[in-house]
Amino acid sequence: MKILILNGPNLNLLGTREPEQYGHTSLADVEALCRTTAAPLGLEVDFVQSNHEGELIDHIHAYGLLCQQGNAVGAVFNPGAFTHTSVALHDAIKGTGLPVVETHISNVFAREAFRHHSYVSPVAVGVIAGLGIQGYALAIQALSHRASR
Ligand code: DQA
Repeated sequence: MKILILNGPNLNLLGTREPEQYGHTSLADVEALCRTTAAPLGLEVDFVQSNHEGELIDHIHAYGLLCQQGNAVGAVFNPGAFTHTSVALHDAIKGTGLPVVETHISNVFAREAFRHHSYVSPVAVGVIAGLGIQGYALAIQALSHRASR
């Protein structure tokens, strides 16, 4: 079984970008954490980062199909700033039925008001925010648990 870890815009800058908000760990560290968490659960990780909305949508479509075929458990998705702007991501998740755990490193609700609204949350199976990169590990466990119900 496969799992997609999908990262949106600017997450390639993790480690150097606003460390007071996002910490000092890099995206490579997040990938290592995800692989370490997923392996004992029998999950094969596809780890993707893109700064382009359309590319994120293409990955959601491809994984939606994999899930329908019973070959994937879903996606851990940190949509970055597209969380707060993208009707297209909302529609892609809704249209494919891909089980998504929306995951944010920072607590978006403790930040600026424009981060309090998410277009992704209404179509996500769950939301994690503010637990740092550990949120990715928790989201992987949640999707694995959900698929084995
Ligand atoms: C983020 C929160 C978003 O508001 C922000 O635009 C990001 C990162 C997070 O992981 O905390 O790029 O998704």
